[in-house]
Amino acid sequence: MVLRAPEVELPSRAAIDRAKIELERRLGPSKVLTGVDACAAYANDESDVEGRAPDAVVIAATTADVAATLAVAESCGVPVTPRAGGTGRTGGAVPVAGGIVLATHALCRLKEIDRANLVAVVEPGVITGELHAAVEREGLFYAPDPNSLESCMMGGNLAENAGGPRAFKYGVTRDWVLGLEVVLIGGRVLRTGKRTVKGVTGYDVTALLVGSEGTLGVFTEATLRLVPKPPALATALALFADVRAAADAVGAIVAGGLVPRCLELLDAATLDAVRAAGVSVDARAGAMLLIEVDGDEAESALLRVGEIASASPGNVDVLVAQDAAQRDRLWAARRMLSRATRKLARHKLSEDVVVPRTRLAELIARAESIGLATGVRQLAYGHAGDGNLHVNFLWDDDAERPAVDRAVGMLMRATIDLGGTLSGEHGIGVSKAQYLGLEQSEDLIALQRDIKRVFDPSGLLNPGKIFPPGGHKAC
Ligand code: MLT
Ligand code: ZN
Repeated sequence: MVLRAPEVELPSRAAIDRAKIELERRLGPSKVLTGVDACAAYANDESDVEGRAPDAVVIAATTADVAATLAVAESCGVPVTPRAGGTGRTGGAVPVAGGIVLATHALCRLKEIDRANLVAVVEPGVITGELHAAVEREGLFYAPDPNSLESCMMGGNLAENAGGPRAFKYGVTRDWVLGLEVVLIGGRVLRTGKRTVKGVTGYDVTALLVGSEGTLGVFTEATLRLVPKPPALATALALFADVRAAADAVGAIVAGGLVPRCLELLDAATLDAVRAAGVSVDARAGAMLLIEVDGDEAESALLRVGEIASASPGNVDVLVAQDAAQRDRLWAARRMLSRATRKLARHKLSEDVVVPRTRLAELIARAESIGLATGVRQLAYGHAGDGNLHVNFLWDDDAERPAVDRAVGMLMRATIDLGGTLSGEHGIGVSKAQYLGLEQSEDLIALQRDIKRVFDPSGLLNPGKIFPPGGHKAC
């Protein structure tokens, strides 16, 4: 069951034909796919957003290819949807107007790791997990760790400002980007930002571009900040009778002055999915926290976290990973949650709302009542340290979709009531565009539409994303 894409203006047949001829002339036929099956493979991402198959797909291998594509798109008036790994959850890489998909997965060089300046330079097709491995071989560390790190690519991480479990201590992608090379519609190549630790020259265009969901420009290179790899790690599971007890323990740990790098929460239904996937979990546990601490004092900090968790009401047990193999098994169980919960029903939608940490228990209670009120099954897991919860709605029958939409709307409103925000890491894309006005004022949305028009006056770059349907063609 799919989410319908917004109505957007489609390019004319003549414009598409002209663009195909121009793309082939400028890039050569091997980089331009126009076959129906080849194009259909680029119509979706990992969201449930229904795409319109593109008319052409460009497999860019250089910045010049990206620039040529964006020049052709502008001169022919054909929309372009940028795409890296295609693992997004809100439809950011879904071409809702057909046209051209500009794929950057072949721009995949890890160009540099500079140990003295603590900098890495990557292209958008670098797989995030491969970047981690490469810098860690050098004794360095790049923290953002979206759960899809084995397949997602830096281009998408930059576009969506991806997070992950380690965001609690280390922040999200934007906090690690020093500078960018970006290509604007029409083909202008810009460099933004810096390669230095400090640098306050001009507006922070780098920060604006990261998280702009492919609507302002196409990334061809990023300069990333690195830090030394933390010398030690300590990991534990804290089991609780129920999810509210676990959420309250999160507040107690943070109030105790501790900053674990990860504080992940799993509710009862998620634990059942983990059990169903063959991982044994204490039957008394109705919720779990996966806690990881790093740094010189990791062992003693984990001890302190364990004491606070054990003393929290509703605690059932605290289990410390004894070695790297045990730690890896815990993380393998966490990383397969999305897949394990997907098996529970024919359809699944994972939201990524965020509330102030102290209101997490209320959010969980609201999500449960929404499930009861709409009759839609729900479960929740996520980055509890950040107050970032993946409320998952599950359903089997297509006829349930209207109830699911009601449940999503209610969750968005509850999140805003609790002082939260609609997206912690998956972006707004197509899926949440209709809810933007719940969080942001008309004036703020108008200002962002104005910014979009400065970058993309004709509205050709990733149309139909972020902004509620029905505005200027540019947004
Ligand atoms: C996660 O934390 O597992 C990912 O953000 C994906 C999700 O399950 O929504
Ligand atoms: Zn997540």
